[in-house]
Amino acid sequence: MRKYSDREIRAFGLDPAGIPKHIAIVMDGNGRWATAKGLPRGAGHRAGVNALRDIIRFTSDVGAESLTIYAFSTENRKRPKEEIGILCGLLIEYFNREIDELHENGVRIKSIGDLSWFPTAVQETVRAAEEKTAQNPGLKLNIALNYGGRAELVRAMKLAFSKTDEPDEDAISRNLYTADSGDVDLLIRTGGDVRISNFLLWQSAYAELYFTDVKWPDFTREELIKALKDFASRDRRFGGLKTNGAK
Ligand code: FPP
Repeated sequence: MRKYSDREIRAFGLDPAGIPKHIAIVMDGNGRWATAKGLPRGAGHRAGVNALRDIIRFTSDVGAESLTIYAFSTENRKRPKEEIGILCGLLIEYFNREIDELHENGVRIKSIGDLSWFPTAVQETVRAAEEKTAQNPGLKLNIALNYGGRAELVRAMKLAFSKTDEPDEDAISRNLYTADSGDVDLLIRTGGDVRISNFLLWQSAYAELYFTDVKWPDFTREELIKALKDFASRDRRFGGLKTNGAK
């Protein structure tokens, strides 16, 4: 739920009317952050979870409606068992520690992806967080877990075809995991790589893309403000012409 007044939002150098409704983030660079410091990769993921805390808070406080974060891709299943175990442990720890505060702040949690692949303890923790926050009116926090954009599209198309022989674009959109968050306005990727990596392929058709070399554990609210300012400076034409008629 938005906490800041227009005046406070302007004090950050942001325009209250220019806050993206749906922000998506590929939180990349945890491993390299840790390696550069001589730490094990798990320490990078732990630092990544800490970074996430403030980003969720700020996103909610400036009044974005949805935040979709890539926590675990279908490709991440190829990682060593030990690292997957660390990530699962962090997920459980994260939900146990943060759920009350998220709930108090009106955040609605939803996992997107195939949760059934995870150990039962992860599934139960995530489902409990979803159930507890299901009626909350604030930020829609979509956490991508064992998620792949192509798999999501296949699923959405199957669902759409099960309801009608000729689904249109809206019918596909309605059957995506993120149906009630709508299209992505701003897609951020940290960690220096310039690619989408099978994230929200349909929803990002007209997203503004923001890439930064900053590794995820170092992505503070100041870095997010930079991305939001950059977003506000973009001329979003959605394939049309400028609204003021200039070329
Ligand atoms: C990418 O860094 C990050 C991940 C694969 C996992 C992201 C997960 C978290 C921030 C923590 C878990 C999430 C929640 C919701 C508790 P990388 O390992 O690919 O980094 P690298 O590219 O430097 O190797």
